[in-house]
Amino acid sequence: MNKVFLILCVAIMALTTANSLLAEEKTYVGSESCKACHEQEHHNFMTFSKKAHSFDSIKKMEKKLSPQEYQTCFECHTTGYGKKGGFISESQTPGLKNPGCEVCHGPGSLHVESEDPDDIVREVTLENCTTCHSEDRIEAFDFKPLLFGGAH
Ligand code: HEC
Ligand code: HEC
Ligand code: HEC
Ligand code: HEC
Repeated sequence: MNKVFLILCVAIMALTTANSLLAEEKTYVGSESCKACHEQEHHNFMTFSKKAHSFDSIKKMEKKLSPQEYQTCFECHTTGYGKKGGFISESQTPGLKNPGCEVCHGPGSLHVESEDPDDIVREVTLENCTTCHSEDRIEAFDFKPLLFGGAH
């Protein structure tokens, strides 16, 4: 009897720890999740930023590419590809199929719950852009984004 109780306790403790670890891990939630509280930024971004529709850019070229080549596009033309809770595929994660708010502000799961500005990236820097707007691309496309361009 005692032994069973002990095992039960250990199991419950393990579960609780796993749960709180999960809760602390930030994941991607998609731009639609920001709309209710940041209507202005959301509206501007959806209306004027090319990012908000950037999956179309790769979709148009899908037929000309092998599946492997096509996959390499996801890194920059979606939100959080290859990262925990990020884009997986168009059918599994439709809300993450364009590069959204979270490519600049980081994963938002904690912040949408807490509404705490400390749970989201507030100060976006140019370094943040170079993961996608890399030196090579800047040269090839003759285009370097300015910090306040392309956001909202
Ligand atoms: C349930 C409401 C809510 C949702 C959903 C929400 N936020 Fe917020 N957000 C807030 C509040 C409240 C603040 C703090 C007040 C403020 O500065 O506007 C804030 C602040 C911020 C800030 C810092 C603003 C500053 O002045 O420094 C950023 C950036 C931000 N949110 C981005 C996002 C993004 C990106 C999403 C979607 C992933 C999102 N928020 C979803 C409520 C929300
Ligand atoms: C390293 C990041 C990165 C990868 C990987 C990437 N792109 Fe892009 N892509 C960009 C950026 C950034 C732009 C915006 C133009 C610029 O500054 O380079 C862009 C622009 C484009 C455009 C032009 C859109 C327009 O407005 O005319 C097309 C089309 C495109 N990419 C297709 C693709 C395809 C197809 C792949 C995969 C084979 C791919 N990209 C992989 C970052 C990337
Ligand atoms: C291309 C990068 C980028 C994207 C994408 C982006 N932001 Fe921002 N965001 C910024 C920058 C840069 C600032 C200014 C930060 C600063 O003042 O240091 C900012 C500031 C903010 C602020 C603070 C108040 C303000 O308007 O200055 C909020 C709230 C915010 N963003 C929400 C969002 C939401 C919601 C989305 C998606 C709909 C989004 N952002 C998408 C770069 C981005
Ligand atoms: C996750 C990858 C990614 C990150 C990070 C990123 N961008 Fe982009 N950005 C893109 C892609 C992809 C495009 C091309 C959109 C298209 O035409 O399909 C783009 C296009 C743009 C454009 C072209 C015009 C427009 O209206 O969208 C500007 C300006 C821009 N980005 C600014 C920024 C800035 C500033 C930052 C950093 C604060 C940033 N981007 C970070 C992927 C990214």
